Amino acid sequence: MTAPLRQSEPVVVPVALGARTYDVVIGRGLLASLGERIKTLRFGARVAVVTDETVATFHLAAAEAALRAAGIECTRIVVPAGETSKNYTTFETVCEAIIAARVERSDVVVAFGGGVVGDLAGFAAACARRGLDFVQVPTTLLAQVDSSVGGKTGINSRHGKNLVGAFHQPILVVADSALLDTLPKRQFRAGYAEVAKYGLLADAAFFAWLEKNWKDVFAGSAARDHAIAVCCRGKAGIVGRDERETGERALLNLGHTFGHAVEAGCGFSDRLLHGEAVALGMALAFEFSAKKGLISADEAVRVSKHLAAVGLPTHVKDVRGGVPSVDTLMNLISQDKKVKRGALTFILVRGIGQAFIEKNVDATEVRAFLTDKLK
Ligand SMILES: NC(=O)c1ccc[n+]([C@@H]2O[C@H](COP(=O)([O-])OP(=O)(O)OC[C@H]3O[C@@H](n4cnc5c(N)ncnc54)[C@H](O)[C@@H]3O)[C@@H](O)[C@H]2O)c1
Ligand SMILES: [Zn+2]
Repeated sequence: MTAPLRQSEPVVVPVALGARTYDVVIGRGLLASLGERIKTLRFGARVAVVTDETVATFHLAAAEAALRAAGIECTRIVVPAGETSKNYTTFETVCEAIIAARVERSDVVVAFGGGVVGDLAGFAAACARRGLDFVQVPTTLLAQVDSSVGGKTGINSRHGKNLVGAFHQPILVVADSALLDTLPKRQFRAGYAEVAKYGLLADAAFFAWLEKNWKDVFAGSAARDHAIAVCCRGKAGIVGRDERETGERALLNLGHTFGHAVEAGCGFSDRLLHGEAVALGMALAFEFSAKKGLISADEAVRVSKHLAAVGLPTHVKDVRGGVPSVDTLMNLISQDKKVKRGALTFILVRGIGQAFIEKNVDATEVRAFLTDKLK
């Protein structure tokens, strides 16, 4: 892990799911090879590229050029940028556009954007013509290390986020780390919280590597590709063992119980991006684990220190405009997790890199912890 990293060949991480096995390919400048890669997998396929307005401005011309260079006929479907596009109306627009473009069962949908486009286009691909192949070309750090891998697709319901969707695995993921050069720093930083998550949940050596090398990950050197590859390997392993989240996959929710509650309490607004909420949530999960005597207080401090050094929130006081009351947070947590006789499920830790699923967390203990934090 400490050897110098050089820019080299793309890294290929397989997601092993039997007949639905696919590769995640990671490297700088990979977008140029998109057409050839799709042609190799589905010779003669037409392509519908789904993207958002912002990504289209920066990168759509290059994506289309890569497809046309391989002789692939393509059509574009551009949706507004942002979470609000994960709605029924935009979903309908995307499905209708795919059908109107005569994209057939032997063709391919390309999801070209962040997690929003990946979830929306992936779900449209799962549904249009009863299921089309799709390729993920993630353009945010969050999407490259998390949402593009694993086949969860969907849109939001008025009852909550991601409540309408399908498991639909892509046939390929192409993660071009150079696309992240145009990502606003705040978005990159938020995605970094999910990067740190992989170290914190199952890979202590990776977390230690991040503590030393995070600046290079931000700068976009070979360290960035290395970090993305480690995360994708981590996620691919978990998804390969537990595709439908009946067990281990829930570990990926480290920091998300506290995080979601605060994120929802802030109205999923600009005040707190998802990754920022996850950083705060992970800091709280470590502190809560320390309070329960599972780890030393020092270990929780080490985690917060790294996240804070990067510029992520680790304390409720870091949230612009403040966080909601303990009552509101407890309500949100129990909605999220379904309280069973006062017991909640949380991802806790026995150390950095040693997360586990605890199904028996006492709600009153969580309330006392949060009351203390909000003082
Ligand atoms: N399916 C899963 O397993 C999974 C996992 C985690 C999160 N998600 C979902 O992912 C979504 C969040 O994803 P996100 O953080 O990528 O948000 P996003 O897709 O909204 O992207 C964030 C912003 O960055 C812009 N952008 C994207 N790529 C860019 C680039 N290269 N240069 C400049 N700007 C760029 C977008 O237009 C958008 O404004 C949420 O809806 C969440 O539910 C899904
Ligand atoms: Zn997340």
